[in-house]
Amino acid sequence: MHKVILDTDPGIDDAMAIAYALAHPEIELLALTTVFGNVSVDKSTRNAQYILDVFGASTVDIAKGAGVPLVQTPLSYAEFVHGGDGLGDCYPDTSVVLSATASHAQLQDLSAADYIVEKARLYPGQISLIAVGPLTNIAQALEKEPDLPKLVKQLIVMGGTVDEPGNVTPLAEANFFNDPHAVDRLLVHDWPMVIIGLDVTHKVMITDSLLAKLRDGGGVTGDFLWRTSRFYIDFYSSSGAAKDTGVRQCAMHDAAAVAYLVEPDAFSLETGASRVIESGIAAGQLAIDRRGYRNATDHWNGRATTNGACMEVDAERVLQSFLSTIIDHRLN
Ligand code: BDR
Ligand code: CA
Repeated sequence: MHKVILDTDPGIDDAMAIAYALAHPEIELLALTTVFGNVSVDKSTRNAQYILDVFGASTVDIAKGAGVPLVQTPLSYAEFVHGGDGLGDCYPDTSVVLSATASHAQLQDLSAADYIVEKARLYPGQISLIAVGPLTNIAQALEKEPDLPKLVKQLIVMGGTVDEPGNVTPLAEANFFNDPHAVDRLLVHDWPMVIIGLDVTHKVMITDSLLAKLRDGGGVTGDFLWRTSRFYIDFYSSSGAAKDTGVRQCAMHDAAAVAYLVEPDAFSLETGASRVIESGIAAGQLAIDRRGYRNATDHWNGRATTNGACMEVDAERVLQSFLSTIIDHRLN
């Protein structure tokens, strides 16, 4: 059984990741730790509570995290992708009757970073940390507990891109662009840290017809994912990565990070000393040294070489795992 803390900025694809993690029989979802990103941290925390309520999960903790990046000036939220509420303008969804065991009681006094450190110390070598928003909370947790990379089992990150064009600039993906300093600090250490970036998430597109299968066979959870994804798929089909494909489809980025945990063989990983460019025209770009040459400068020297990014994926397998897990095993 994988003990998971999901660090998230819900977010429509974040909701997909939460549904997948909650339903998977091999995952024990301990907590959602929240961060700014798609929306403010107040909204992402509210959304996290709401999503857990809708999905029928009353035992998952929530710890509120960072509202701004470590160093840079905060950027604007992704309302044009996720809606003003972060959930495709579906908050609150009055058609959903929430259970009496609503998760609001699970909001922790600890900050996200303190919560992560506490659980990592409590369950050494057992926690899989999956981060699907800006990496601010994880960098803060590392600052509080320098042994965090040894205490957790693995760190799986949705973010960045190596060869695929970026989604917020030609070079950068949104989560890394939102706090490049945080990611770069993480990459110094040997976690191992596996990056699920646009190189693979733009290959795992979920079509409207697959989302309709979730709506029809996935109970309250599937119906919620269908409704929240209307706004998101409109964006993807008109101006995002699906715009020239002729198919109504969208990336399920954050759910692909959960897929790596349960279907690692569906991914191919390339490792090497890695940096994220912190500022300037290339801010947010992930640069992995895949050459193995002698470097002319120190920028990549002295960095862990075991971290890396997934470059290829068996998209069919990931989509199948996502759909069947929710249809067969969802709580609500
Ligand atoms: C990432 O950015 C956010 O908008 C999504 O939730 C995902 O985590 C994709 O670039
Ligand atoms: Ca996200």
